[in-house]
Amino acid sequence: MENRLFIFDTTLRDGEQVPGCQLNTVEKIQVAKALEALGVDVIEAGFPVSSPGDFNSVIEISKAVTWPTICALTRAVEKDIDVAAEALKYAKRKRIHTGIGTSESHIKYKFNSNREEIIERAVAAVKYARRLVDDVEFYAEDAGRTDNEYLARVVEAVIKAGATVVNIPDTTGYCLPSEYEAKIRYLFEHVDGIHKAIISTHCHNDLGMATANTMAGVLAGARQVEVTINGIGERAGNTALEEVTMILKSHADLGIQTNINTQKIYPTSRMVSSLMNMPVQPNKAIVGRNAFAHSSGIHQDGVLKNVQTYEIIDPHEVGIDDSSIVLTARSGRAALKNRLGVLGVKLDQGKLDMVYEEFLKLADKKKDINDDDILVLAGADRSLNHRIKLDFLQVTSGVGVRSVASLGLNISGEKFEACAVGNGPVDAAIKALKKIIDRQMTLKEFTIQAISKGSDDMGKVHMQVEYDHQVYYGFGANTDIIAASVEAYIDCINKFKL
Ligand code: KIV
Ligand code: ZN
Repeated sequence: MENRLFIFDTTLRDGEQVPGCQLNTVEKIQVAKALEALGVDVIEAGFPVSSPGDFNSVIEISKAVTWPTICALTRAVEKDIDVAAEALKYAKRKRIHTGIGTSESHIKYKFNSNREEIIERAVAAVKYARRLVDDVEFYAEDAGRTDNEYLARVVEAVIKAGATVVNIPDTTGYCLPSEYEAKIRYLFEHVDGIHKAIISTHCHNDLGMATANTMAGVLAGARQVEVTINGIGERAGNTALEEVTMILKSHADLGIQTNINTQKIYPTSRMVSSLMNMPVQPNKAIVGRNAFAHSSGIHQDGVLKNVQTYEIIDPHEVGIDDSSIVLTARSGRAALKNRLGVLGVKLDQGKLDMVYEEFLKLADKKKDINDDDILVLAGADRSLNHRIKLDFLQVTSGVGVRSVASLGLNISGEKFEACAVGNGPVDAAIKALKKIIDRQMTLKEFTIQAISKGSDDMGKVHMQVEYDHQVYYGFGANTDIIAASVEAYIDCINKFKL
């Protein structure tokens, strides 16, 4: 059995599909370049037929990246495949990822079809794609709930038709690890010609088993894993890249190697979290804030005597470098540039100057500036072209009194002001905002997160606001959490389709 495991990263496709995680093309290129430096083998760059933005991003990522294969998703539809091939034209190595649902419910309800017709459509799509590119991956959507005998027929047919990789997605995150392992083994035992293709896992985390299922698939012979940074993805997410790669590194006895430079894991995780406005849960394996924090006395004592008593991974192995994290008001442009470089962010001189200005302002308010602060600052000009901007905000609040806010907005160069009273400072500020922007909008979700630990810390606010039957996602970051909340609300409003 070949012991090299290919890492197929779908952060920019399955991950980016998550509401609120959308990136613009420049940000996607930034992530793609970080994935290249991390050492992934395949970058799934998008679903080109789905939107002009996705089409364009696949083109630009293809131009920007050299080593990884660039992959584009399609349905088993000729038009999709044509558009994907066109979007991939600049890729040095290209792959089309086409497929169709194979479970009973997909066949019956999604396609109103039957098993034989699905096989015909699958074969036709693979043959069509093979006329345009040499590397074609086929996905049997909902393979997790497809019976093994029929799945084996589909897999055999698409390999005969020229599929180079066959993806067995547990689309709904339903399988038990033992079931998923048995499924992959069944395919190896029953599909003629299976060794002509690479079998790939693609697991979702609805029941918290994505990584376990992926590992079960690998132990059964799969040699590609489809993963995302921080496990982001539809619903409960996809298998996390950092988990699979560190499992294989920690269990070197399995003898399965990847091309991942594990020291780039943490900076890549921070970059993706920051650009996608998707916080990483503190107890997330490998990249969570507490992943290496020993808090109980017994554990601290053990770690001080010998770190291996409670730590199976050295944090440096995943790129956590405590000594280099903190910058202060005395740090110069070069130190900032260097730190951004370590975090995978490269800025031109003009942008660096802007970020440095903001850095100095923040350093005035906050003693130590950490990696998360820097990443927020580097992304801060995302609101530069916004039509509506916060001009000023003053809030008075306290115990036993109602909060009062006065707020000014700049809307396309024109100034507006309003005051309001509310139940707490955020409520007062948002009421004042709504006096100026008089629309029927409802706050659906509101999360405040401190970036690290100090009371002078930057607060990040994620918001969802419903307007005209659509939910919009907004983000704000400020040392003043009331201002961050108003910024997040304004970020939502700027996205309204008016
Ligand atoms: O989860 C899934 O089935 C997918 C396919 C489109 C590969 O993401
Ligand atoms: Zn998926």
